[in-house]
Amino acid sequence: MANLFESQMLGGTVSLKNRIVMPPMTRTRTSEGDIPNQLMATYYGQRAGAGLIVAEVADVAPSSNGYAMTPGIYTQAQLQGWRLVTDEVHRKDGTIFLQIWHVGRMAHPSLMPNGEAPWGVTEARAEGSDVFAHDAEGKLGYMRAGTPRRLETEEVSALVGTFAQAFANARQAGFDGVELHAANGYLFDQFMNSVLNTRTDRYGGGSVEDRTRFLMEAVDAAVRELGPGRVGVRLAPFGTFNSMPEDPLAEETLLYLAEQLGRRGVAYMHLVYELMPKGNMESATFEKLHLDHAVLAKVRAAFPGAIIWCGGFTSREGAQDALDTGLVDLIAFGRPFIGNPDLPERLRHGWPIAVADRSTYYTRRGEVGYTDFPAYRIESAACEAA
Ligand SMILES: Cc1cc2nc3c(=O)[nH]c(=O)nc-3n(C[C@H](O)[C@H](O)[C@H](O)COP(=O)(O)O)c2cc1C
Repeated sequence: MANLFESQMLGGTVSLKNRIVMPPMTRTRTSEGDIPNQLMATYYGQRAGAGLIVAEVADVAPSSNGYAMTPGIYTQAQLQGWRLVTDEVHRKDGTIFLQIWHVGRMAHPSLMPNGEAPWGVTEARAEGSDVFAHDAEGKLGYMRAGTPRRLETEEVSALVGTFAQAFANARQAGFDGVELHAANGYLFDQFMNSVLNTRTDRYGGGSVEDRTRFLMEAVDAAVRELGPGRVGVRLAPFGTFNSMPEDPLAEETLLYLAEQLGRRGVAYMHLVYELMPKGNMESATFEKLHLDHAVLAKVRAAFPGAIIWCGGFTSREGAQDALDTGLVDLIAFGRPFIGNPDLPERLRHGWPIAVADRSTYYTRRGEVGYTDFPAYRIESAACEAA
């Protein structure tokens, strides 16, 4: 069985120094213009001991700006900002992919270009979910997602082109690869959900091919841009975050995707194993979701690439147990990476794992709760042992 500290090849192209992944985590520390900065470069550089970092999700276009202060990957200034980040991670011998999304209906007119309605698979609003946007006085805060406008067929096709440009931009900014954010109730997920997607065109129409067409066209664009070994897809099968209706066809969709992504030689599937079923990004509760191992075994059989599990891992033992099931290749530790920049070393040596204060997860307060967590010193380990 694989060991957590063993290296792993992704898609025959990218070599990871261990099987520990830092999953994407939005931290809202960008500069004006949704531009990544030196502070973010320091943060990611501190965490370059991970086998793979997937950087926080980036907007594919201004129409995807669902949360204020999240980064973009569509202007030259943003590309230059990301270059600081990728250079710093590579200087520390790390590997970094960029997660890319369109939020779809999880947006608010106050953040949309010209105050237009959010973009939707249909006109159905995320009735129970909030986004971080401007109120009538221009003050930032959480408010209910807006009522979306249903995208025309040609607009969906055009959006695939926008993603293709974003993938090219990510490569130009120095990323080792990209991850498509098809989890957690954002636009790809909205299209894939058989209850929400009541369209009758080639991006809906009831069949699994139609529901997944938008995602698969974007995956094909990413593969063309970067090669399959540098493309991953994040999924939260059975997830209900962001007011997603429960989908009786979720398993069918998952297995179809596993097969299709496998055919294209995509590097990895990143499965979220714990969900945020309630609340907004800041107040979300994380509840362990049981992903049926029998279903996962079918995914494994259909998909020859690597599989990442994420959600609720806090210890070396727990991660190793998951690897020992043989169903998975890489383990993501999300929240533990916030307070432990040197998490892989701590796991390796059995050093204590710090717990970060969640009130700093999304603060716009610069380095506080962001880059100010110390690495665990060998000296302190020696002192404790004495
Ligand atoms: C502060 C914070 C920000 C997050 N931002 C993202 C994001 O940008 N993209 C994404 O797919 N998931 C995001 N997530 C979810 C994490 O990637 C991960 O799935 C979740 O934290 C569960 O893993 P954990 O139990 O190891 O923390 C975020 C989670 C946290 C705590």
